[in-house]
Amino acid sequence: MKDFLSINDCSVEELEELLKLSGQLKRLYESGSRDLCLSGKTLAMLFEKPSLRTRISFEVAMSDLGGDAIYVKPEDIGGIGKREPIKDIARVLSRYVNGIMARTFEHSTVTELAKFATVPVINALTDWLHPCQAMADVLTIEEHCGKLKGVKIAYVGDGNNVARSLVFACAKLGMKMVIAGPDGYELDAETIEKANQISAKAVVQTNDPAEAVGGANIIYTDTWVSMGQEAEKEKRIADFAGFQVNAGLVKKAPADAKIMHCLPAYRGYEITDEVAESANSIMFDQAENRLHFQRALLKKLMG
Ligand code: CP
Ligand code: NVA
Repeated sequence: MKDFLSINDCSVEELEELLKLSGQLKRLYESGSRDLCLSGKTLAMLFEKPSLRTRISFEVAMSDLGGDAIYVKPEDIGGIGKREPIKDIARVLSRYVNGIMARTFEHSTVTELAKFATVPVINALTDWLHPCQAMADVLTIEEHCGKLKGVKIAYVGDGNNVARSLVFACAKLGMKMVIAGPDGYELDAETIEKANQISAKAVVQTNDPAEAVGGANIIYTDTWVSMGQEAEKEKRIADFAGFQVNAGLVKKAPADAKIMHCLPAYRGYEITDEVAESANSIMFDQAENRLHFQRALLKKLMG
């Protein structure tokens, strides 16, 4: 495993190993101990989009493991692939640092970086995928449900990068996912087919949120307007009417169904403040687990 670009590229064994290591490192750091396996190592972090969780949790994870992180805004280097080709950025950075993490618009930017870098490349969100988020989500689900096999996730909202990575995680790790979104915002058929080839009937797409949440252990949502889609905001808000995770919808799920959101949450749109703040909401455990998963990922790739 050189890079971490997509959950679909990883074997079940690799994913399970990462989850196990995440739990071990979480307990180690909670006990006050440290694992300085990345002492003297540096991670370059390229961001074409804003970030709170990803940036800070990766920086803290590097520091926790004894290493350093350098935050790079695209304008600092004249844009990714603008001042010089992506393949040159990959090869130059590989001479200076021990790992590259990138959050980009085009998914092909991270695959191009990985192709030419001789050091590990981590996908920190592209328009297509958000694998670090999905793995932190899986860790959170395992902690709250006590298992993964047979867990049902109802994903209500946009068939976006977050949904796509979750679908691969579900298929590989024995969970089921029902995605409910409006016409025209479904997850692409190819991803659903790929997931269902990994595990039969792992993923089902519907236009009925009430049907999706029936029997669900987890209700998951994400913004209707992802970074880069700001120009479509008004249309998207109109098209997603009826797909809000609110008290009425939550009542149609089992009483112990947990509420998840990768954050940032736009209260009053994809989720109400009432549901986001309810006792069943585990959004901040999810956010915390970004740190625990990424420590494990960095140790595995760069240690
Ligand atoms: N969930 C997530 O990736 O958050 P940021 O955009 O703040 O990094
Ligand atoms: N789907 C969202 C996730 C943000 C973490 C986006 O891409 O903006």
